[in-house]
Amino acid sequence: MAQLLVENITLTFGGVAALSSVSLAVEEGELVSVIGPNGAGKTSLLNCISGFYHPQRGRILFEGHEITRASPHEVTRLGIARAFQNIELFSGLTVLENLLLARSWRGIGSTFWKTLTCRSSTWGWPKGADARASRR
Ligand SMILES: Nc1ncnc2c1ncn2[C@@H]1O[C@H](COP(=O)(O)OP(=O)(O)O)[C@@H](O)[C@H]1O
Ligand SMILES: [Mg+2]
Repeated sequence: MAQLLVENITLTFGGVAALSSVSLAVEEGELVSVIGPNGAGKTSLLNCISGFYHPQRGRILFEGHEITRASPHEVTRLGIARAFQNIELFSGLTVLENLLLARSWRGIGSTFWKTLTCRSSTWGWPKGADARASRR
């Protein structure tokens, strides 16, 4: 079974359908990109997965747990972390340290961070990762 399963979710705001029967399956260790023009529903999809919005129809499962109606802190506890489009950076930290803050509270054991750490020890951190973060 996929690690993350989104099944036919529909999210509407009044008369606006942000998501219309959207489905998605992500296997463990798989990287999936969601692309689309402004207003296509990318952020709404992430908001549903991370518990900020709750779809009116469909369901979302993470590692077999239904999280369709879960709140952000419950979703986080299960191991889902997200970054935001409009970010607030900690200017005293490096780019990498800011990224690490989005790490799941299950810690460095998550597949993504294991992969990132492993690749970086082989090829080095991406250029600029150790620079201080700033808005510019
Ligand atoms: N909180 C909200 N209230 C009303 N409409 C919203 C809200 N969030 C998103 N929408 C609408 O849902 C649609 C999808 O938006 P969004 O998910 O932000 O798209 P994307 O991230 O792909 O640009 C748009 O029509 C947007 O105006
Ligand atoms: Mg967006």
